[in-house]
Formats: sequence, C-alpha cells, structure tokens
Amino acid sequence: MDQSDEESNTKMGEGCCLWSIASNIITYSVLAWAGVQFSHLIKRLFIHGFGSYPSFTSYGTWAVVTGCTDGIGLSYAKELARRGMKIVLISRNPKKLEAVALRPKLLNSQSEEQFDTETLMIPADFTELDIYDGIKEKVAGRDIGVLVNNVGMASDPQPFLDVPEGEKTFQDMLLVNNMSMVRMTHMILPGMVKKGKGVVINVSSVAGISPVPFMTTYSATKFSRTSLNKVEKFVLFITLTIRKDVTRTRGIEYQRSSKNLDSKFVYTKMADKFLDRPGLTAPTPDTFVRSDLRSIPKIQVTSGYWFHNLMVRS
Ligand SMILES: NC(=O)c1ccc[n+]([C@@H]2O[C@H](COP(=O)([O-])OP(=O)(O)OC[C@H]3O[C@@H](n4cnc5c(N)ncnc54)[C@H](OP(=O)(O)O)[C@@H]3O)[C@@H](O)[C@H]2O)c1
Repeated sequence: MDQSDEESNTKMGEGCCLWSIASNIITYSVLAWAGVQFSHLIKRLFIHGFGSYPSFTSYGTWAVVTGCTDGIGLSYAKELARRGMKIVLISRNPKKLEAVALRPKLLNSQSEEQFDTETLMIPADFTELDIYDGIKEKVAGRDIGVLVNNVGMASDPQPFLDVPEGEKTFQDMLLVNNMSMVRMTHMILPGMVKKGKGVVINVSSVAGISPVPFMTTYSATKFSRTSLNKVEKFVLFITLTIRKDVTRTRGIEYQRSSKNLDSKFVYTKMADKFLDRPGLTAPTPDTFVRSDLRSIPKIQVTSGYWFHNLMVRS
C-alpha cells in the first residue's frame, strides 16, 4: 500500500467516524425529543385524570362565568360552586338565568345534586356593546378570584356566502366570541392584579387550530394556538400577551382552555347536531370541566380533557 492509499483510507475512516457520530447524535436527539413529548403527554393525562383541584376560594370569593345557562358554562358554574365559590352568572336568557340563579342553590337537574351558594344574576346579551358598564357596576366591590370567558356562538355549518343573514351573524360571532373576552378581562383583571392572584380561563376550540371549512368565521374567532408556521392566533395571542404584559410576575393564573370541536367535541347543544350521545371522545360538559379544573394552575394551555390530549397536542 503506497502513501496515497493510506491517506485515502485514513480519510475514509475519518468520514465513516464523522457519519457515525452524526447519526448517533440524530438518533439520540430524536429519542430525547420523543421522550420529552411522551413525558409531556403522560404528565398531562395524569393531571387531567387524577390531579388535585386547587383551592379556588384562595383566589377570591366570587367566580364570574359568561354564557352560564347551558353546556360548558353551566358546568363551570356548578363545579366552582361545588368548590365553595359564589357565582356571578352572566347570560342572555333571563328565564334560563332565573332557573339557575334565583334559587339559593345551583341545581344540577340531572343528578338533583345541590350546592349551597350565593349567586348574582346578570342578564346580558354579548351581541350588544352597551352591556359592559352595567356588568361593571354590578360586580363592583366583589372579591373576584376566577373569570371564565366561556360564552360562544357558532352558526350551522354552511359555505361562507350561504350563511343566512351573514352580516349580522358574523358580527355577532365576533362580538360574542372575541369582544366579550377582551372586555370582560379588561374589567376583571385589575382587581386580580391589585391583590396579586386570580385565575382567568379563556375558552377556545380545536376549530381554531386550523381553518375549518363551512365554519369559517367561527373557526377564525377561535384562533387558538401556535400553528406549525408559528402564526399566533387570537385566543392564544390575547392569553399570552396579557400574561406577559400584566400578570406573569403577579401570581395570576391565565389559562387558555381549548375545547374541542371536530372529532373532539364536548356534548352540549352547540355540538349536538354532530353527535348522538356523549362518549369517550365527546364527554359531557361536567366531565370535561372537572378534567379542565384539575389542571389549574399546572397547565397553561390545554385541550382541557384528558382524552383530547391524545388527539390534540396543546
Ligand atoms: N361543545 C363543544 O363541542 C365545543 C367545542 C369547541 C368549543 N366550544 C366552546 O365552548 C364554549 C361553550 O360552548 P357550549 O358548547 O357550552 O355552548 P352552548 O351549549 O350553546 O352554551 C352557550 C351558553 O352561552 C350563552 N350564550 C350564547 N350566546 C349568548 C349571547 N349572545 N349573550 C349571552 N349569552 C349567550 C347560552 O345562552 P342560552 O342558554 O340562552 O342559549 C348558553 O348559556 C363556547 O365558547 C364554544 O365555542 C364548545
């Protein structure tokens, strides 16, 4: 073997060695990444399934729940009442509100379970803009520990141009799904900042993760998380920026709780046109809310329900 053969063998050896180091680095990086993802998932499943509830009353005496006469909002009201909170109930239908609020107790009609609690009923339609001064007046002076920005509306699935009374429907949707979140947070957050504690839950949807055909505007109002191309979207944007702006250093838990649509429903009247009954992939709102509340303050951005964590990475 002459000298040039030896040199080329040495170079080949070095090349193989470098390739083997690179492939080891790639393999171990992928394994490490997969391990982190797996432990992230297991942690979430455990917290949503078995985690302990925080003491909600330690954040304040009252919880404010928007859109609370049905579905997920009603379940938040009931579950927070069960955990000792007094509830400010805000919704549009006075008769339904009365059925929930005018009794001294919140009544769970399915199980006849009752919770002793004080309630304040505020009839308000979030499609209107002039409701906020009235709400502010009524909640003034109360020690509010939890705000649930839950109210939401969707139209029946239709192509964008075929939605009946599109101008009004789309405007209402933006006012109900987005404006309510901004205005209610702007109203309630200063009290939390002053005392240095509080919980804000913003309800989003998996329909906000990527555009959903036939639900264009609903999907857009639920802009809910950083997508693959890193476009920040409405609900996550407002959650994260307010957290950074105001709350991060002041002990306030700010959670964007992403409820699921598509195959990841919660079984409420909003979703019943897509579903026959509740099940593992579409829990009842009570099951969903219990799972979500376990995650406070441990998880900031979540799909809310343990099984949905297997279907949506949040
Ligand atoms: N269910 C799901 O699968 C699902 C999936 C993704 C996201 N979400 C989100 O979860 C939240 C709650 O949804 P849900 O399924 O529980 O809905 P829901 O069963 O239709 O209940 C909505 C609640 O909001 C009230 N409401 C509606 N429009 C209002 C307005 N203009 N002013 C005041 N109150 C109003 C309703 O009052 P009435 O009782 O008078 O109708 C009801 O109490 C929404 O933000 C929704 O986008 C739900």
